[in-house]
Amino acid sequence: MASRTLQWISSALLLAHLGASSPTSKHKDDKPAAFFLAGDSTTAVQSTGGGGWGNGFLATLQSPAYGANKGHNGATTVSFVKGGDWATVLNLVKNATDAYNVYVTIQFGHNDQKPGNNVPIPQFKTNLATLTSDVQELGATPLLFTSLTRRKFDGTQLIQDLGDVVNATRKVAAESNVKLIDLNAASRKYVQAIGSADADKYNLVAGDRTHLNAHGSEVFGRIVADLLLESDESLGPWIGRNATLSHLIEEGVYA
Ligand SMILES: *[C@@H]1O[C@H](CO)[C@@H](O)[C@H](O)[C@H]1NC(C)=O
Ligand SMILES: *[C@@H]1O[C@H](CO)[C@@H](O)[C@H](O)[C@H]1NC(C)=O
Ligand SMILES: *[C@@H]1O[C@H](CO)[C@@H](O)[C@H](O)[C@H]1NC(C)=O
Repeated sequence: MASRTLQWISSALLLAHLGASSPTSKHKDDKPAAFFLAGDSTTAVQSTGGGGWGNGFLATLQSPAYGANKGHNGATTVSFVKGGDWATVLNLVKNATDAYNVYVTIQFGHNDQKPGNNVPIPQFKTNLATLTSDVQELGATPLLFTSLTRRKFDGTQLIQDLGDVVNATRKVAAESNVKLIDLNAASRKYVQAIGSADADKYNLVAGDRTHLNAHGSEVFGRIVADLLLESDESLGPWIGRNATLSHLIEEGVYA
């Protein structure tokens, strides 16, 4: 009886072991990473009226890893789908999944939260959940990002004016069992530490405390790169490091 139990346990362990090193999971480690970025102007390429962390992050990728920044100025979780941007992202994903481990970063909220855009929080949550499941259905990995902080201060205190959409994004990640990249927390920590005058040096144009200039994209792109490296060690070969910059950010010193 005891030996039969032992035999059962050892075959269960063998099965578990085989499962752990199945061809799919082994294959995952071999493929380079590809990143397609979905979001609003705080992800988008630097342009008039927009510019985020996206290009700064993509610049850290080590070939053959690559990516594309599909952030769209003014986008909400509704307009991004209606306007065809989401279909563009999904086509990039479909084309890449054979040769790459594909990740789709999803960061919205800045425009969804504006009353005029009429995306109430329950709808925002449903939309985010749909975007993540669309990505999963194609065999790719969604990464839910909380919104990049704005850089407005009340005296010496950074204002948190994205709490509603940030909390909603956190809830969707937990409920859908999708990885959360808490860019809001990381960017707030850094911006609060350097203070208003230095934070303004990242403004796209004077007085625009939402969008980033090229240098801001590099610094906040570094914050994203480090959050991703922290969250998934298999990304190590594909995301380049900059210990100098990471250290300044970690210490809360203006870079
Ligand atoms: C599709 O994937 C191939 C191979 O990875 C790549 O060379 C090509 O540029 C991709 N096409 C598009 C439209 O992304
Ligand atoms: C977001 O959640 C935090 C922590 O639970 C809470 O303190 C804060 O009031 C929430 N913010 C909003 C706008 O709901
Ligand atoms: C690393 O970051 C530092 C500080 O921002 C910067 O001066 C340097 O050019 C960066 N190095 C690379 C290789 O990007």
